[in-house]
Amino acid sequence: MIGTSFYYTCKRALPLRKRIVSLHSAVKDLRLVLGIETSCDDTGAAVVDENGRILGEAIHSQKEVHLKTGGIIPPVAQKLHADNIDRVVNEALVSSGITPQELSAIATTVKPGLALSLGIGLSYSLKMVNQYSKPFIPIHHMEAHALTVRLLHNVDFPFLVLLISGGHCILAVAKNVSDFLLLGQSLDEAPGETLDKVSRRLSLINHPDCASMSGGQGIEHLAQNGNRKLYNFRIPMSQHQDCNFSFAGLRNHINHVIRKKEMEEGIQQGQILSCIADIAAATQYTIAFHIAKRTQRAILFCKKECLLPSTAATLVVSGGVASNGYIRRVLKSVTDSMDMALLCPPPKLCTDNGVMIAWNGIERLRAGVGIMNNTDGIRYEPRALLGIDVSDHVREANIRVPSLKEHFFG
Ligand code: KG4
Ligand code: ZN
Repeated sequence: MIGTSFYYTCKRALPLRKRIVSLHSAVKDLRLVLGIETSCDDTGAAVVDENGRILGEAIHSQKEVHLKTGGIIPPVAQKLHADNIDRVVNEALVSSGITPQELSAIATTVKPGLALSLGIGLSYSLKMVNQYSKPFIPIHHMEAHALTVRLLHNVDFPFLVLLISGGHCILAVAKNVSDFLLLGQSLDEAPGETLDKVSRRLSLINHPDCASMSGGQGIEHLAQNGNRKLYNFRIPMSQHQDCNFSFAGLRNHINHVIRKKEMEEGIQQGQILSCIADIAAATQYTIAFHIAKRTQRAILFCKKECLLPSTAATLVVSGGVASNGYIRRVLKSVTDSMDMALLCPPPKLCTDNGVMIAWNGIERLRAGVGIMNNTDGIRYEPRALLGIDVSDHVREANIRVPSLKEHFFG
């Protein structure tokens, strides 16, 4: 208490202008990274210091445009990134009070993602890098999702990470900043893509509550008032003893049921089914069950191979679909039952943003890996694995998992 009041007395004793100057110079003693994200449909930028303080951030979401066109059209996404990137980066810099000259490095997503979108972020960043003679840190978008949690919590390596988004579904062990073991991934589409496509098939854009929500948000919202038990969708890959995922077959099955219901109710595609909440609840439940089952096996595999600390092991969940409260609660029940901690960034940092890219830049600066002083030959890569693929070993381990308890699913 004495220490605190002394601190405040000292702070108050300084004139305001001097206080701002001293705060500013304290920030400038720390390394500062500008992060730029354009891998999909969000133009994001942020300035983060090496203590994880977010000094400034800005984002431009293209969601509304893509909702109207029924999905992302890459040249449209490219044009919107090109139209907004300068404004977004400047907003992040101005709100941080940091000039480009004061940055320690510029970090930008270069893989994986939509080629046309990645290209805009990379060429903009390279211009800045050359103009201000700054080091460049190329970022793997999924590595950034995986490390975001360390900006907020004290999580040591190694930890297990589940990344569920619109483009990916990955289970991996994060051994270090740039060192991952890939345990499994989606063999077809990602859960966010499935949720987006089912939402479109249900015409959520015409639903008064959901018109401006992403597909996943819309399904989560409707599912709250639905009965998941009224529809029985098959759980994907239940015969496969591995950590891979599949969602395309499930989506076809759901679409088939929607078509049947439309015929029964005598309505056209575009109109809203009376049973929409029940279908949303069953969809969300089946996706959550599939994800939980693969995660359970990944935890058992890590325990068998001693890949995680024997006490206080952590599962980190991130990516846009990790914003889903129901999926989080199911995964919390799984980790509680298996003696693991669960950590998820807040929804705002689960979906794409510039902060996670800037923070990944800080992580790489601190570890001294992947910092480029010469950017000749740098290219974006639309496809890029995360880490070393050990999914065959996982399958060969042939791990059977105990039944998930009914009460995990509400
Ligand atoms: O990570 P993200 O912003 O972009 C990619 O890298 O893909 O994830 C976007 C995805 C979309 O498919 C969106 O429908 C889904 O995240 N999403 C959700 C929720 N909010 C966003 N899915 C389920 N529940 C949510 N609350
Ligand atoms: Zn993402």
